[in-house]
Amino acid sequence: MSVHTQNTRLTTTKIRQMKQQGEKITMLTSYDYTLARLVDEAGIDMLLVGDSASNIVCGNQYTLPITLDEMIFLSKGVVRAAQHALVVVDMPFGSYQVTDDQAVANAIRILKESGADAVKLEGGQEIVPAIRRMIVAGVPVCGHLGLTPQSVNQFGGYGLRAKEEAEADKLLADARALEDAGCFCIVLEKIPAALAERVTKAVSCPTIGIGAGNATDGQVLVLHDMLGLNRGFKPKFLRHFAQLADDVNNAVSEYISTVKDGSFPSAEESY
Ligand code: KIV
Repeated sequence: MSVHTQNTRLTTTKIRQMKQQGEKITMLTSYDYTLARLVDEAGIDMLLVGDSASNIVCGNQYTLPITLDEMIFLSKGVVRAAQHALVVVDMPFGSYQVTDDQAVANAIRILKESGADAVKLEGGQEIVPAIRRMIVAGVPVCGHLGLTPQSVNQFGGYGLRAKEEAEADKLLADARALEDAGCFCIVLEKIPAALAERVTKAVSCPTIGIGAGNATDGQVLVLHDMLGLNRGFKPKFLRHFAQLADDVNNAVSEYISTVKDGSFPSAEESY
């Protein structure tokens, strides 16, 4: 009997092939077993345990406070749910910026303790040495350029990035450096569609856009945003594919009134 169990999830090789074959790549965030299972069953290609969990799960204003331990805890549930999708985990703020040794050790911890398939890091040429070491160690890496929320204090907000030529040129050079370092894909967040198209044509690894137009090789959205669970959040790039905030509110209101008026539970719902 073989000691190896078959991993049925997509591989980074498959994700790269999808670009070559012109097949669009789909990615959504997930932070828990129950929703990840539904998203995986629907046929998503990649599940991202994003550090947006800091906002969505923990209610923080920024992504910065979430810790490595918290990311690993959330990732375990998502990995248990994923039968088909490749699972990518965000390296949280502070877990890869101090030294390359720390970066590679933390990337290994994520794969070892959560069972995820890859990590994602924000940044360009400055983090290439750390990325190279992760890849040598056997950790597949997804890059992240453009709006990088961990640098919100440096940018002073979440506005469109790389509007000016100098920043656009730097982003293109960063994308080439990430490709050269061996990243299996690169997330491009909130940049002009024309620049995202230039980057997509310039690199051989897939680009996954969010607020970056439709010429990228794939798209990613925050699950709770696209399901319409965050009523107040509707940037231009976001499409609500459902209005679940209303559904949840209506269901809870009905529950409250049926408990109050004594009609729940009914005789059929009782033992
Ligand atoms: O943390 C996150 O949700 C992300 C996506 C916005 C790409 O990094």
